[in-house]
Amino acid sequence: MIEADLAVTGIAELATPTGTTPRSGSDLGRLHIVPDAAIAARSGVIVFVGTERDYRQTVTLIPGAQCIDAQRGTVLPGFVDAHTHLAFAGWREREFDERLRGATYSEIAARGGGILTTVTATRAASEEQLVELTRARLDAMLRLGTTTVEVKSGYGLTVEDELKQLRAVETAAKGHPVEVVPTFLGAHTIPAEHRADRRRWIDILTRDLLPTVAGQRLAEYADAFVDAHALTPDEARRVLGAAREHGLGVRLHADQLHDDGATALAAELGAASADHLEFASDAGLEALARAGSCGVLLPVATFFTRVATAPPGRRLVQAGVPVVVATDFNPGTCPMESMPLAVAFACVGGGLSVDEAITAATLNAACALGRGSRTGSLEVGKRADLVVLAVPNRYHLAYRMGLAPLAHVVARGQSVGAGSR
Ligand code: NIG
Ligand code: FE
Repeated sequence: MIEADLAVTGIAELATPTGTTPRSGSDLGRLHIVPDAAIAARSGVIVFVGTERDYRQTVTLIPGAQCIDAQRGTVLPGFVDAHTHLAFAGWREREFDERLRGATYSEIAARGGGILTTVTATRAASEEQLVELTRARLDAMLRLGTTTVEVKSGYGLTVEDELKQLRAVETAAKGHPVEVVPTFLGAHTIPAEHRADRRRWIDILTRDLLPTVAGQRLAEYADAFVDAHALTPDEARRVLGAAREHGLGVRLHADQLHDDGATALAAELGAASADHLEFASDAGLEALARAGSCGVLLPVATFFTRVATAPPGRRLVQAGVPVVVATDFNPGTCPMESMPLAVAFACVGGGLSVDEAITAATLNAACALGRGSRTGSLEVGKRADLVVLAVPNRYHLAYRMGLAPLAHVVARGQSVGAGSR
């Protein structure tokens, strides 16, 4: 018999991608579906996935084990949010209203607002305040079914404030059920005090910050924002090239508002992912597919910035790029932390099928964060990160847009709270 300390039974449908590598093309939507299922774990690791009938014959619960009745609900892997900026202070609701009245994101950035508004607020916040804000947001995301999350810096933009932001993320993550993957985004934009001499900020990033961040293991990845109001492709190449030399993986905010050639740059740099991609060229996407980099859709940000294009979901699938769906949670372009809503938008706006979007929000996202062998699918040997949805099948996840009918969330084999039912 297989011994378990956690089981979920009474599952009408269990749906999961399989494997440890990212799925693309016609494989993206290939899920393993088990009707009338059960799943069991021991010490945070999955030990059984199959039909409830087999479960009854092969699994025994050890004393003190927890058994969750899914009440004919649906079980999916916990969501992996592979792109967030959640460690910020201050909101930007007034800039949002200005945009509703006609200003564009780029116009606000050009006059020193946008990212720099949040930089001012984040510099003014203490490290302790950032820890509290970050923890509260991790709690909220967990309630929405996110069990692994990537978190970027990029709102400090001085040596001290970038390190403060990354340390706050590290402290907030300690002991939290959500696994946090930190990314250094000192290359988010050029801070106001260096706009007259941009090179100076790039020098600080490459010579001072990157060695410290890597040396203190404050980040696993480095990211850069290529845009007319942020970094040029050459500046990003310099920063991310240095990041690689320091042993960090790289990712890139690419072609979000215009075609800047940044998708091809991500491919050239062997990036783990290129993110946004609304204005990526066909050649850029083909290069990305050849490089084996993931393409991260941030469909709520696409909608929220009101750019004149749809999230390029089908284009990525057709190009053979492994698709990831993430929130982009940040105060400017996506003040929203719900993976269920991002999945719904990836389907309705980006043209993914529900099954494709599920793979993109779980296994592919885990792979994009270097976690493909640990989480992202429900298979024996992987971490017991899962959600129980109070709906009879997986389609409701996208169909009931943003409702997130979460009955239970399990992270590392621990039931960490039920949603509304
Ligand atoms: O992913 N594009 C750059 N960075 C964020 C927005 C950050 C902000 O506006 O504060 C994004 O959309
Ligand atoms: Fe972003």
